[in-house]
Amino acid sequence: MNGISSSGQVERFRCIIAEHLGLQFEDAKLGFLAEVLERRLHKQAAAADYLGQLEARLPLDELGALALELTVPETYFFRNVEQFHALMEAVVPDRAGPSGASKSLRILSAGCASGEEPYTIAMLTRGLPLEGGQVSIRGVDVNRAMLDRAARGRFTEWALRETPPEMKRRWFRRSGRESVLDETILKSVQFSQHNLLDESPELWAVEHYDVVFCRNVLMYLTPKKAAAVLARITRALAPGGYLFLGHAETLRGLSQDFHLHHTHGTFYYQRREGDGPAARQGGESDQAHPAAMPLAAAVESAGTWVDVIRNASERVRELTPEAPLRAAISWPDKNIEAALELLRTEQFGQAMEMLQSLPPEAARSSEALLLTAVLLTHGGKLADAEAACRGLLAIDELNAGAHYVLALCRESAGDERGAIDHDQTAIYLDPAFAMPHLHLGLLARRAADPEGARRELTQAQVLLQREDGSRLLLFGGGFGREALAALCRAELQACGGQS
Ligand SMILES: C[S@@+](CC[C@H](N)C(=O)[O-])C[C@H]1O[C@@H](n2cnc3c(N)ncnc32)[C@H](O)[C@@H]1O
Repeated sequence: MNGISSSGQVERFRCIIAEHLGLQFEDAKLGFLAEVLERRLHKQAAAADYLGQLEARLPLDELGALALELTVPETYFFRNVEQFHALMEAVVPDRAGPSGASKSLRILSAGCASGEEPYTIAMLTRGLPLEGGQVSIRGVDVNRAMLDRAARGRFTEWALRETPPEMKRRWFRRSGRESVLDETILKSVQFSQHNLLDESPELWAVEHYDVVFCRNVLMYLTPKKAAAVLARITRALAPGGYLFLGHAETLRGLSQDFHLHHTHGTFYYQRREGDGPAARQGGESDQAHPAAMPLAAAVESAGTWVDVIRNASERVRELTPEAPLRAAISWPDKNIEAALELLRTEQFGQAMEMLQSLPPEAARSSEALLLTAVLLTHGGKLADAEAACRGLLAIDELNAGAHYVLALCRESAGDERGAIDHDQTAIYLDPAFAMPHLHLGLLARRAADPEGARRELTQAQVLLQREDGSRLLLFGGGFGREALAALCRAELQACGGQS
């Protein structure tokens, strides 16, 4: 910090930014915020109570100036191209009807920066045979300079780095070092300056849009503001309409109003029809493991990872001293927590009885259903475990644990593609979840894909170090952190990777 603004002032500035722009800045960024504050203070005629004035009311001009300094406008044409494949091959046919059909399509790019995202959509949807209507595309952003750049329609090679050559030929012409976008595409997107945090009945008209792209925006917002923006998007989407987020963003923990789709190698969401918005703790080692076979050898000789879990469950008793469970999963009922303790001591029958005696509401909770599915997996009742997972996903579609257990069930049923799909979904929903990476690594090894195996096992190894104890207990298949890490090391060595 440069010492001119006090830390108290910078903290106030951070709160104002969070409140009015929704942007979240970690402590590590306080120095950067102090510099921005200094620059803004120098520009004020009456700097004396700049922060007080912002707190009372943030004028639009000043909001724009702050947006220029603080938002992250990185974007390019055809970014995450799989999402555009999904848009054209799954979403548009679904919304426009099978015969190419009868209705207009309304698409919003929320947080469009300099326009590459809505222009990509315009290029792709150009000439769609919509008999009864047309495609309307709208781009909004709080950053005026970005919108001006979008309107100029002149782009660098860097912005076109992922643009397919035929699209470049068709829609751009070179002018010096820049590429100039064709007028037809320029005119097919309407841009306007909006703060997504602001209520605007016109922008957020109820059930108006068929598709909303809000990619790489929510990740910069405070959880409260991200939830508020999402609530608006949900309301403004037609029932059955689609939402695309950035590839590192999920709705897990934010909303239950959407179905999750996984096609074309990407994830996206569809607003539900109808009501609308609405292992053991670490410390143990392989040496302490009374099972005769080391885990790596058990994996080698077993058919599937579920077989290993089941064999271990039959042979292993009381491996570790009691260890307190940390609270990554909060258990809604003390009897569910007690059932988890019974899982720890491999008393699966008693654990199941405890779950069956839960009051109806607790029995229907995500946690009880997930624990039931895990217990069934340990008991080798894979079809029942799968049914429990599907029941859980019917009420909590974004439950990463249910997708992981389903991956095990699918593998056991000989459906490797389905297993991979569910592991990938679990990872998308919860990037810190170690077990689906480990499982994908084992599947890749079995499929003679050493590169894929190395990638996944390395990732599993990293994540296992900080994986939560209660999640290890639930998903570790009866093995603790050290045993699973040793398995990763052995498997990595076996496929020529570093361990
Ligand atoms: C990283 S860019 C994403 C651009 C594009 N969606 C993409 O994924 O390539 C994020 C954009 O969100 C905009 N943004 C951030 N907060 C906003 C807000 N409160 N209202 C409107 N736009 C906002 C920024 O100005 C920036 O242009």
